[in-house]
Amino acid sequence: MTKNYCGAAARAAMLLGVSHAFGAVAEAYHRWRTAIPYAAFDWMVPQPCRRVVELGAGTGIQTRRLTVFADEVLAVEPDPKMRAVCQVDGAKLLVGTAEDIPVEDGGADLVVALDSWHWFAQPEATNEAARVLRPGGTLAVAWNLPELADDWTVEFWRSVTAAHDETRRPGRLMLGVDAPFATPQYRVMRWTSRRSADDFVALLGTYSQVIAMDPLERGEFLDRQRELLPIDPDGMVDARFTTVCWRIVHMGA
Ligand SMILES: C[S@@+](CC[C@H](N)C(=O)[O-])C[C@H]1O[C@@H](n2cnc3c(N)ncnc32)[C@H](O)[C@@H]1O
Repeated sequence: MTKNYCGAAARAAMLLGVSHAFGAVAEAYHRWRTAIPYAAFDWMVPQPCRRVVELGAGTGIQTRRLTVFADEVLAVEPDPKMRAVCQVDGAKLLVGTAEDIPVEDGGADLVVALDSWHWFAQPEATNEAARVLRPGGTLAVAWNLPELADDWTVEFWRSVTAAHDETRRPGRLMLGVDAPFATPQYRVMRWTSRRSADDFVALLGTYSQVIAMDPLERGEFLDRQRELLPIDPDGMVDARFTTVCWRIVHMGA
């Protein structure tokens, strides 16, 4: 497949300028974020899976789980501070971006992006995924999202659920009509996280919109958000999440 980088470098640089925010909190990110459920990997990863390419691997929270499902895991991550935390036995860490994947054509059974697809410039990332996949291989994309089922969840997670733009909203996969992929399939899995109020506030602090605030504003914001939490007598909060998973078969060039 011919690469078309017209405008891609500029857009990727713009996106990366924002996303490098994660590196500033890489240790906290690794501590407080959670992987998608094993059941989601079960559903998304084709078997057998000889090679998987993970885009935007971050600190390796999901990479570790991928090593259970695939023989070879190539984890691509552009941010040096995220890579510094990403140490996963059985995975090879590569410097690169979704728009310029440092992997040869046609050898991957799976390309996967977990909580990261909305950062990528399109259609460049879709084209690159198609390039590195073998025909019949799978593109899988998933997000962990807070469930917005009542007033406190809407208010608490407001900054997290904001869309980057209409085509890049966490949870929603939109591929161009020309993309060489079959009809996307998706599943939604629900789970509950029981954590202390402090832990939920710490988790909220790992999202890009919160990282981007100036420190004083961030401290005040997090204090206000803490007040919204329905803390039970044990000092704990039950919050519901959904994992939205997509899988799409590559139809070949
Ligand atoms: C929200 S984090 C998700 C990390 C990891 N997948 C996880 O679930 O914990 C998004 C990651 O995507 C990376 N990223 C941002 N823009 C990217 C791009 N254009 N190509 C590849 N990765 C990118 C960021 O550096 C960051 O590590």
